[in-house]
Amino acid sequence: MQPISYHDPVLLKEAVDYLITDVNGIYIDGTLGGGGHTSAFIQQLSDNAHIYGIDQDDDALQTAGKRINDNRFTAVKGNFGYMDVLVPVSVRGKVTGILLDIGVSSYQIDEGSRGFSFREDGPLDMRMDAQNALSAAIVVNDYDVADLTKILFEYGEERFSRKIADAIVNRRPINTTAELKTAVEAAVKGPHVTKSLARVFQAIRIEVNQELEMLKSALKRSVDLLKPGGRIVVMSYHSLEDRLVKHFFRSGNFDGVVEKDFFGNDIRPLEPVKPALITPSDDEIARNPRARSARMRVAEKPSDQRGKS
Ligand SMILES: C[S@@+](CC[C@H](N)C(=O)[O-])C[C@H]1O[C@@H](n2cnc3c(N)ncnc32)[C@H](O)[C@@H]1O
Repeated sequence: MQPISYHDPVLLKEAVDYLITDVNGIYIDGTLGGGGHTSAFIQQLSDNAHIYGIDQDDDALQTAGKRINDNRFTAVKGNFGYMDVLVPVSVRGKVTGILLDIGVSSYQIDEGSRGFSFREDGPLDMRMDAQNALSAAIVVNDYDVADLTKILFEYGEERFSRKIADAIVNRRPINTTAELKTAVEAAVKGPHVTKSLARVFQAIRIEVNQELEMLKSALKRSVDLLKPGGRIVVMSYHSLEDRLVKHFFRSGNFDGVVEKDFFGNDIRPLEPVKPALITPSDDEIARNPRARSARMRVAEKPSDQRGKS
């Protein structure tokens, strides 16, 4: 295995500035990865603070564990969709800040044996958590053509989804990322093929890791974890995730429509913090191309739990 390298943490200064509102606080990094963001957070915190770093990927936990040797830090294996049960019950309602830097890490993408990339040959895996029962091999080889089409269309926003699903089904069994790439190339010709490959791999990855469901679950559960005035910072890398975050921050649900209580007050568990959308500077993108599609949003739990009207 090649040495594990996690690239620069994205929007690092912004994450620190928006998240660290109390140097004595309790924090949760739901996407520890190589520990880049968490390391920077720790430098800002006092001896009384604590940070829980969650990741579902054993390689990430190992890397971050080696990098961060600090008694203010606890690494936790698990899915951020269940973060409320991964941290001690005693911190519920007391958390100052939660970070979610969602999606895959550069390491996961670059490591061919994980099966995330069409640029590397590897097994059809794509599981962030190696204990996950569902893998890309199952999605690609066992899903019927209608389900496969739906996933490619909804999670990949791929307009040739039916054609690609047909090509996949006709070439079964498909065992490697290179074979999956060949199936996609048989269905999509010309200059669009690289974009289609990216969309197909993204769609299958989202399905394997149930990424949208886990994000929804994390957003909902973050509300009870945060203390009044506590913040959640979410960085996403594609529009499907960003839309869920935007709607939830605005309305507390995923339709984006604010509901009213019996008295006509808006029911909003979180208040978006302005500016509504934070994106990397040209300088950051030049330094770190992975930052290109990053979108950061920040919300705060109001001191008045009902939210403001
Ligand atoms: C973009 S990387 C985070 C990089 C990190 N901020 C850093 O500075 O090194 C995303 C990480 O989140 C993890 N991850 C993604 N979805 C997750 C989930 N639902 N639960 C737990 N970890 C998740 C991935 O395994 C990956 O290590």
